[in-house]
Amino acid sequence: MDKIKRIVITKEEIDQRIKEVAKEIDQMYQDGKPVLLVSILKGAFIFMADLCRAITIPCEIGFMCAKSYYEGTCSSGVVNITMDLDRDISGYHVIIVEDIIDTGRTLNDVVNLLKARNPLSLKVVTLLDKPERRLVKFDADIALFTINDFFVIGYGLDCAEKYRGLPYIAEYGG
Ligand code: IMP
Ligand code: MG
Repeated sequence: MDKIKRIVITKEEIDQRIKEVAKEIDQMYQDGKPVLLVSILKGAFIFMADLCRAITIPCEIGFMCAKSYYEGTCSSGVVNITMDLDRDISGYHVIIVEDIIDTGRTLNDVVNLLKARNPLSLKVVTLLDKPERRLVKFDADIALFTINDFFVIGYGLDCAEKYRGLPYIAEYGG
């Protein structure tokens, strides 16, 4: 536990932002068409669980596991889906629910892949955004928190698969 430096975002701050963003989402999708929340595993699983319970419009949930492969610093343009959605998204407003946007590579690839499947609309909600680290230009539609360039754990985010269960987001490293 000694590598946990400081709490960056408390559970109360996360809860408050989720309430605000859930309200925004409720207001954005008023056309009665089906809404699908797509969580990118594993990091976004806790955020997804809290966000989907705060949203009051009817929505379905789906999960994807994505890995991107790169040669050096250049994207090969290939996103390898190790677990895909279980339905056709063409009749849905899709909202991707992500834990953190770092270089932007993963989400850029996932968005291009899902766009090609012709959803009614596609938006990205991320818990955290680290814009200083971007290697691929990518903007989320909604970011709950913007942080500087340091490594964080907790609330779904891991370091070597540990600390995902912490209720807060903390800076990690030594
Ligand atoms: P990228 O935007 O394609 O670079 O990759 C983002 C992914 O890297 C996220 O979905 C996380 O799984 C992981 N990641 C990036 N920064 C952090 C961090 O500070 N803590 C934990 N995981 C991170
Ligand atoms: Mg992730």
